Amino acid sequence: MDEQRKAQDPALVCTCNDLYITDIQQALAEGETAYKDIFAVHDMAPRCCGCVDDVQQLVRKWQQADTA
Ligand code: FES
Repeated sequence: MDEQRKAQDPALVCTCNDLYITDIQQALAEGETAYKDIFAVHDMAPRCCGCVDDVQQLVRKWQQADTA
């Protein structure tokens, strides 16, 4: 996790893979909600796992919006 890069770009979620909020939303729209599966949609895999909380937060937001 490159905290400095992440601070400079709020839309960037995973600095190891350059995974952005829109990439995660795309995976969620395809029905993926598990951390590793969200990466797999983009042929990526988590490395340091430092973004797991941020990814899970986006999943929760998506699920809440889906059930609202
Ligand atoms: S920031 Fe390292 S795996 Fe996402």
